[in-house]
Amino acid sequence: MSSFRLDGKTALVTGASRGIGRGIALAYADAGADVALLARDAGKLAEVAGEVESRGRRALVLPADVTDIEAVQSAVGRAVHELGQVDVLVNNAGGNSFSRPLAGMRFSGWEKTIRLNLDSTVHVSQALLPHLLERKSGVIINVASVAGLRGAPMMSHYAAAKAAVISLTQSLALETAWAGIRVNALVPGWIETDLTGFLREGDDSDKALLARVAMARWGRVEEIADPAVFLASDASSFMTGQVLVVDGGLSAMP
Ligand SMILES: NC(=O)c1ccc[n+]([C@@H]2O[C@H](COP(=O)([O-])OP(=O)(O)OC[C@H]3O[C@@H](n4cnc5c(N)ncnc54)[C@H](OP(=O)(O)O)[C@@H]3O)[C@@H](O)[C@H]2O)c1
Repeated sequence: MSSFRLDGKTALVTGASRGIGRGIALAYADAGADVALLARDAGKLAEVAGEVESRGRRALVLPADVTDIEAVQSAVGRAVHELGQVDVLVNNAGGNSFSRPLAGMRFSGWEKTIRLNLDSTVHVSQALLPHLLERKSGVIINVASVAGLRGAPMMSHYAAAKAAVISLTQSLALETAWAGIRVNALVPGWIETDLTGFLREGDDSDKALLARVAMARWGRVEEIADPAVFLASDASSFMTGQVLVVDGGLSAMP
């Protein structure tokens, strides 16, 4: 199982202050990697850094907004400078803060969602790519969503952003394979995090949603973090430009 280990590697995880990003950061530390943690909430990042360090690995806290190009460039520069190298980038920061039909959507809401989920992936990738290209190695994992695989009524903004993240993943994989860089998309279904908390508020409020999941339950953060270890490790050394769907069978339902 040594090909699943990340010993000697350094990873940069965005959206690492909670939820899936925190889970991935801790799984990477368990697998032997040092981790740079990027999000806006410095206090929460410091707590995650403590959890990484308690696993015997090094952590670097990078408070930054992924939609701010200059802040991203400075944070990525710090990661490379202070950790010496970055081998794995996980573009995980993202989410969706409203549901609305396109006919009634303000363009500012559309733009905000595209900026958070798609533009951020471009900003962080562009900031790190010169380093990866120079070293002729590296792994990029873009966290998309099942919403990006098909139509998503009331969430056209989020679905379009995530579909574009998948397309970007494939194009970037083709552009960088010659340089030993692998780029894959990790596509979660419904996972129990703050982002989806509002869907579990009332009794049985998630019944209809879970009826669409073959395994009829919410996914746990660790069930996304372990596939993220696989994609970062040599266990997936012949995979690039691929879309790894982890959704309890949601996308297989008729
Ligand atoms: N949960 C699900 O069911 C699900 C399903 C499919 C896909 N996804 C995707 O998985 C990823 C993680 O989702 P999650 O459920 O873990 O969400 P979450 O619990 O809401 O966590 C989101 C993370 O992103 C960070 N973040 C948000 N806006 C940011 C910004 N502008 N700059 C920097 N960091 C920012 C947050 O930290 P700060 O607030 O500290 O900045 C937090 O660490 C997202 O891309 C989401 O779209 C989630």
